[in-house]
Amino acid sequence: MQKQYIIRRFDPKDLDHVVKLNWVFLPENYPSFFFLENYTHWPEAFLVAESAGEIVGYVMCRVEEKYYRFSPVKLGHVLSIAVEKKHRRQGIATALMKGAEEGLVGTYGVDVIYLEVRVSNEPAISLYKKLDYKILGVMPSYYSDGENGYLMVKSTSERADDHLIRAVLGYRVRR
Ligand code: ACO
Ligand code: ZN
Repeated sequence: MQKQYIIRRFDPKDLDHVVKLNWVFLPENYPSFFFLENYTHWPEAFLVAESAGEIVGYVMCRVEEKYYRFSPVKLGHVLSIAVEKKHRRQGIATALMKGAEEGLVGTYGVDVIYLEVRVSNEPAISLYKKLDYKILGVMPSYYSDGENGYLMVKSTSERADDHLIRAVLGYRVRR
């Protein structure tokens, strides 16, 4: 079967559709300017999936910087991803994540990619595990309703070993 969707960069004309998908499918919502700001800084890591002219999914990321042994470490942060219900289990989130990783690593040179996810969000956790993300630990009551979050990480450079990852992100999880 042919793929029924394309993955492309977000464009400001997609804003309303992306904001709406975020509202409908996630409890964590952001104002429009936040989406535009991330797009402005990191356009190669903000992608949408389009099917028959409709936006059916998005992934939005940002790049952050920390220091490890006096040298900067770049972190790719997957802020938000969602796929329209009718279009799930067709590999769209996988394709969005792989595209975002290409932008984060290939264009922005991040050493490690991380994300937060609700401990109850089995679909998302399985997606990330399939893409080689590991649970670094639990963030107690991370969400506004009190639910715990997992911090999940993936090394994308040789220098980002377990020690570096713990040094730059370990403070966020319970040990
Ligand atoms: N149950 C179990 N495993 C699942 C499920 C599910 N419902 N959905 C996906 N997976 C796993 C499977 O291993 C799947 O591979 P398979 O279909 O070959 O078995 C793999 O993930 C890849 O699935 P995709 O088809 O690429 O994922 P999809 O396009 O369906 O989107 C997503 C997954 C984004 C989690 C979707 O369910 C969604 O939009 N959920 C609501 C929003 C959400 O929870 N977003 C993540 C929040 S965390 C964050 O944003 C950083
Ligand atoms: Zn529409």
